[in-house]
Amino acid sequence: MELTKKKLFNERGDRDWGKRRMIGGNTTNLIELNNVKYEWATKMYRTMMNNFWIPEEISLAQDAKDYKNLSNEERQSYDKIISFLIFLDSLQTANLPNINEYITAPEVNLCLTVQTFQEAVHSQSYSYILDSVCPAEVRDRIYNEWREDEHLLKRNRFITDLYEQFIAEPTDRNLLKTIMANYILEGIYFYSGFSFFYALGRQGKMLGTVSEIKYIQRDELTHLALFQGIFREIHRENPEILDLALIEELRDMMRTAVEHEISWGQYITANRIPGLTNEIVENYIQFLSNERLRKINLAILYPDVVEHPLKWVESFSNMNGMKTDFFEQKVTNYSKSTNLNWDEL
Ligand SMILES: [Fe+2]
Ligand SMILES: [Fe+2]
Repeated sequence: MELTKKKLFNERGDRDWGKRRMIGGNTTNLIELNNVKYEWATKMYRTMMNNFWIPEEISLAQDAKDYKNLSNEERQSYDKIISFLIFLDSLQTANLPNINEYITAPEVNLCLTVQTFQEAVHSQSYSYILDSVCPAEVRDRIYNEWREDEHLLKRNRFITDLYEQFIAEPTDRNLLKTIMANYILEGIYFYSGFSFFYALGRQGKMLGTVSEIKYIQRDELTHLALFQGIFREIHRENPEILDLALIEELRDMMRTAVEHEISWGQYITANRIPGLTNEIVENYIQFLSNERLRKINLAILYPDVVEHPLKWVESFSNMNGMKTDFFEQKVTNYSKSTNLNWDEL
């Protein structure tokens, strides 16, 4: 079914929250936070706002020195990961408004708007990292690597093609595929890169970059939860869209993404990083994919992978006693923090 964009001015829109729908609703666009249907979205909005941070508040002076002392392989991996992350976050900043135009719940539009803003902050943090850490010619190379490295080009195209498919043909099925692509990007594609940085951090290297990454990951966890919420509500309200064929298509997308991410993860760590062997990388990505699919009630792909193979990454990336599952947490224990204390980790 073809979806229609929200009307901008809609004097006949419904204010009654009972009539609100995630897609295909008759929204007024009015943001009324005392009149919401999706309670989780207002809670998420506040969590996202409390997470506000400024990349430049973290000093990268020591990282500039550390960078020169990295091994060639470490430096190359560092550069490639930053290059991939810049692409992903910039793409998110550009694409989220395309999704938002079809979501007809103002409380969810609010969250997507904050997410778009946060993706821009993430992109800015990479610029700050590159300006502070790398020489100008390296910086320039990194900004091109997303399309010059064959590996990255293939992966970046995979996601972007799915995003563009929805823009060209905004049907409900393509929307679910775009949501899945977004979910894969947020929940799988960031993670080899994140764990590489944490592995460096564990050795006491590039700690400023690691702090930036922790703040980014804290935001990403809310983005993941937001898309879980959107996916579940669309499924609940429109059970007919998610037929067996589409479910298999979504699971296939996940399978392809997992394969890409494993070969990428193994390419950047090259079996050389303590704690990140090829086997661990493979299990880790498969484990994450099981978690992601389970959260949106789709059958998992790797039933044999039940143990989290990288527990140290979880404790390493935790901040402020943050719970990793937004929907399961009892108390909101997110708080604004401008400094990370390494001793508390
Ligand atoms: Fe991001
Ligand atoms: Fe994100």
